Amino acid sequence: MTVFLEGVEERPFIPTEYVVRLASPSWERAGYHALRREVFCTEQHIFADDDRDTIDDIAIPIIAACCMAGMPDRVVGAVRIHEAEPGVWRGSRLAVHADHRKLGRIGAELIRMAVSTAHGLGANQFLAQVQEQNVLFFRRLHWKSLGTITLHGLLHHDMQADLSRYPAHGQDQTWLLRPQPRTRQVA
Ligand SMILES: CC(C)(COP(=O)(O)OP(=O)(O)OC[C@H]1O[C@@H](n2cnc3c(N)ncnc32)[C@H](O)[C@@H]1OP(=O)(O)O)[C@@H](O)C(=O)NCCC(=O)NCCS
Repeated sequence: MTVFLEGVEERPFIPTEYVVRLASPSWERAGYHALRREVFCTEQHIFADDDRDTIDDIAIPIIAACCMAGMPDRVVGAVRIHEAEPGVWRGSRLAVHADHRKLGRIGAELIRMAVSTAHGLGANQFLAQVQEQNVLFFRRLHWKSLGTITLHGLLHHDMQADLSRYPAHGQDQTWLLRPQPRTRQVA
């Protein structure tokens, strides 16, 4: 009997572990910016060469890294959070490398780390501007739409997280993710 992992049969390599945490060492920060450029410049063409802006001066970067032999090896997920006004925090630049999407709940766990970290830092509101194709994804994670807005020529929704679903925690958390794709058995 052969066991296939649904949707991932064609992948040459499937990491078995990821970590999610606030970016700290310089290789994590470099990987965080490289991934953002790859997704928002090369893939989505939202920015020309670099997606950095003034929010990066104050934002807290959060990463997901895939592990090799048990050690974090490469940044494959990113998001940043910042306090836009007292008590009001925002998340932005959520990105998962294309090879690692819909595999280990990396995007969902980056959002959980982002909102719970901000909650721990005193957020009483957490907001994000979400591209239209991701609105359902956020709704399933207990966010609601507050209305629509066009940014960079693309339709977005202003969305708000339900903080009661994101317990506050400190900034020293490291979460280990193990992809658990649904299995399909073939006789
Ligand atoms: C949006 C994005 C971050 C999602 O990351 P991801 O790691 O693939 O998402 P997850 O694996 O955590 O998804 C969790 C669940 O939501 C589903 N999901 C993922 N993206 C979805 C979407 N756009 N719409 C609806 N459901 C979605 C997954 O299938 C999975 O479902 P399951 O629990 O039933 O298996 C990723 O697709 C991405 O980086 N896209 C390009 C950049 C981008 O759009 N950034 C966001 C700007 S608002």
